Amino acid sequence: MNVIAINGSPRKKWNTAMLLEHVLDGARSAGAETELVHLYDLEFRGCTSCFACKLKDGKSYGKCAMQDELTPVLERIGKADALILGSPIYFGTVTGEMRSFMERLMFPYLVYARTPTSLFVGKLPTAFVYTMNVSEQQMKDFHYTVHTGLNESVLNRTFGYVESFFSNETLQFEDYNKVVLDYVDPEERRKRRKKVFPQDCKRASELGARLVQVRNEATRDQKEGEKSWKCSKRYTGGGQCGSSARPR
Ligand SMILES: Cc1cc2nc3c(=O)[nH]c(=O)nc-3n(C[C@H](O)[C@H](O)[C@H](O)COP(=O)(O)O)c2cc1C
Repeated sequence: MNVIAINGSPRKKWNTAMLLEHVLDGARSAGAETELVHLYDLEFRGCTSCFACKLKDGKSYGKCAMQDELTPVLERIGKADALILGSPIYFGTVTGEMRSFMERLMFPYLVYARTPTSLFVGKLPTAFVYTMNVSEQQMKDFHYTVHTGLNESVLNRTFGYVESFFSNETLQFEDYNKVVLDYVDPEERRKRRKKVFPQDCKRASELGARLVQVRNEATRDQKEGEKSWKCSKRYTGGGQCGSSARPR
C-alpha cells in the first residue's frame, strides 16, 4: 500500500506541507508506506497541448508524453493506492504549479466522449487539502468553492473518489510585525494556530487513515467482483460458487 502526497506550496514546512505530513502520518498508522513530493523542487511544465495522449493507436495514448522531472512522479502515481494534493489558495484558487501538475496528471486519462470517461483503471482514493487566509464563510462568499468544487468534480471523474479538506485563517507569517498588513489581527491568528490548527492536523491524520480504508474496501470489492465473475464464467452448474462447487 503506497500513498503519495503532492505539496503545491513553495514552502516545505508551513501550513500545507504540515497538513500533508499529518495526512501521511494517518495513512502510515493504517499500514501504508508514504511519499511526499514537493512540486517546487521539480523542473516541469503544464500540458503543452501536444495531444500525444489522445492519438488513435498512438504509443503514448492515455499517457503524458512530455519528459521532465514530473514524468517519474506521474508514473509512481499511476501505481499508487491513494493520492493527496495540497495547495495554498493564491488569488482565489490553487497555485500555478499545482494547476500545471493537475493538467499533466489528468488530461491523459480524459476521453473525449459524450459521456465523460476516464482511462484510469480501478478506483484511486484522492483528497485535496487547501490552506488559506480567509475564514470558512469568506471562502464561500468569495466563491473559492467554485474552484474547489471543479477540482472535486474532475478528480472524482478521473479517479472515482475524492474528499476536499479546508484549513482556514492559517498563520501566514512567523513575525507579523515585520510585514505591512492590517486586515488580520496577528494575535488572533497566533491563538488560532494554537487552538484550531492542531484540530486541523488531527482531521488531516484521520483523512489519511480513511483513504487507506477506502482503498482497502475498493480492493476487497474488486476481488469479490473478480471472484463472482470467475464463478459466472467457470462454474455453470447452477450450484453455489465456492469450495463445494465443481467446474464442469
Ligand atoms: C501569492 C499569494 C496569494 C495569496 N492569495 C490568497 C487568497 O486569494 N486568499 C486567501 O485566503 N489567502 C491567500 N494567500 C495566503 C495563503 O493561501 C495562506 O497563507 C496559505 O496558508 C499559505 O500556505 P503555506 O503556508 O503552505 O505556504 C495568498 C498567499 C500568497 C503568497
